Amino acid sequence: MADQRPEPLRLGSVAPNFKAETTAGPIDFHEFIGDKWVVFFSHPEDYTPVCTTELGAFAKLEPEFSKRGAKLIGLSANTLGSHEGWIKDIDEVTGGKVTFPIIADKERKIAYLYDMIDYQDTTNVDEKGIAFTIRSVFIIDPNKKIRLIMSYPASTGRNSAEVLRVLDSLQTGDKYKITTPINWVPGDDVIVAPSVKNEQAKELFPDFRIVKPYLRFTPLPKEKATVS
Ligand code: BEZ
Repeated sequence: MADQRPEPLRLGSVAPNFKAETTAGPIDFHEFIGDKWVVFFSHPEDYTPVCTTELGAFAKLEPEFSKRGAKLIGLSANTLGSHEGWIKDIDEVTGGKVTFPIIADKERKIAYLYDMIDYQDTTNVDEKGIAFTIRSVFIIDPNKKIRLIMSYPASTGRNSAEVLRVLDSLQTGDKYKITTPINWVPGDDVIVAPSVKNEQAKELFPDFRIVKPYLRFTPLPKEKATVS
């Protein structure tokens, strides 16, 4: 029998398009992306504790994503009515006002399309035994390419600052010929990309230093180091 599963999504895949109902009205996902970066993330279930803390945290950080030209959009296999009621709780409990859209994917069609379903953790199921969505994060660039995929188990809340940090790394890397080391945050030294020869590095990054021929660090000038 032919395998019905969609192509696996990988870094560099074009984010599959879909139409959906959201708390901000119906959307066509590619139109929603437009020329922005998008952070598309799923949570297991409305009115659950970890998810409440996560959505509140993403709501509080939304101005930072917005400064970087990035839009947030959530998803779970709940109804619009459920999302709308829960948003009020999130606001009350966390002080984070959720203004970004949350997709109502009751049938889990989008969740399957984006492989946001857990089949390892058999406790992660609803009352009918159907798998909840897991805590997935996709960062999608303005060319609609997937640039980051994260999957967290239901029991572990994500780190919203880490999602923002990856966005900073991707945007900085796209702008300059650099990569970012472990635990990098904006303002830290970056790594001169291996494709850049020393001669070119001298022109691009006058203060670069060679630790090993394959490991060259450089500060970025102030305007390069900060979010544009
Ligand atoms: C939570 O958000 O706390 C949660 C949701 C679904 C399964 C387990 C935990």
